[in-house]
Amino acid sequence: MIKRIRSWWKRKDDPNKVKITSDNIPQHIAIIMDGNGRWAKRRGLPRVVGHQNGMKAVKRATIAADELGIKYLTLYAFSTENWKRPKDEVDFLMRLPQEFLKIELDELIAKNVQIRMMGDKNGLPKHTLEAMEEAVKRTSYNDGLVLNFALNYGGRNEITDCMSMIGREIEAGTLRSEDINSQWIEDHLLSAGLPDPDLLIRTSGEMRVSNFMLWQLAYSELWFTDIYWPEFNKNHLHDAVAEYQRRTRRYGGLS
Ligand code: FPP
Repeated sequence: MIKRIRSWWKRKDDPNKVKITSDNIPQHIAIIMDGNGRWAKRRGLPRVVGHQNGMKAVKRATIAADELGIKYLTLYAFSTENWKRPKDEVDFLMRLPQEFLKIELDELIAKNVQIRMMGDKNGLPKHTLEAMEEAVKRTSYNDGLVLNFALNYGGRNEITDCMSMIGREIEAGTLRSEDINSQWIEDHLLSAGLPDPDLLIRTSGEMRVSNFMLWQLAYSELWFTDIYWPEFNKNHLHDAVAEYQRRTRRYGGLS
């Protein structure tokens, strides 16, 4: 009994407990969920087991983000470059969204989460797209956390598509070059309707952006951690938000 009380005190006064203030919570967090393969390899397991456990970390991150009052969470689940991986791994990754939704959708609905998807829908297998679209439809009236999956997403493709839309509209006479500005571009990107990420998190120790939200990350704060994505939990999210709150955002100006 005494032992139990002592450990409670220790936890309560934990000097490592991070301090987060409620008045400066990032509105939008984007995450590059990296390191699934290495997490599995380190344990002598097939890469797909890493992805399977990565799916569990998706749930932990979503709940933790919701509890913190974050409004938008964008997760890089599959890039336009990930098709270069072995077919078995791609097939596995393409089945994960429906597996995740089969297990979690009811709880996400109960938590008022709105699911969105951004990426090239044309390249996705029918079963993946149908599962995602059903989840988007069933959560479309929710107004809690927006959980945005970047699936078959590439930042350069997104910008190229936007430029080609501009070309087509100018040719058709529906757009004048003087009407093109940042707002027009934002409204025609796949992330239309979402604010730019305030904070980008990347796991696994890699420090690059990897074709993710190239336009939208212009002024995001970046936070990198060595832990592999399947290990990611609430404490890591809190560490990232606490660090975000210590930063001064100047947007090119002076503080
Ligand atoms: C990068 O790690 C991770 C991916 C390409 C896939 C990310 C997918 C998930 C975390 C699961 C998604 C879940 C849902 C619900 C859609 P890597 O495999 O490149 O790791 P490595 O660099 O260690 O090889």
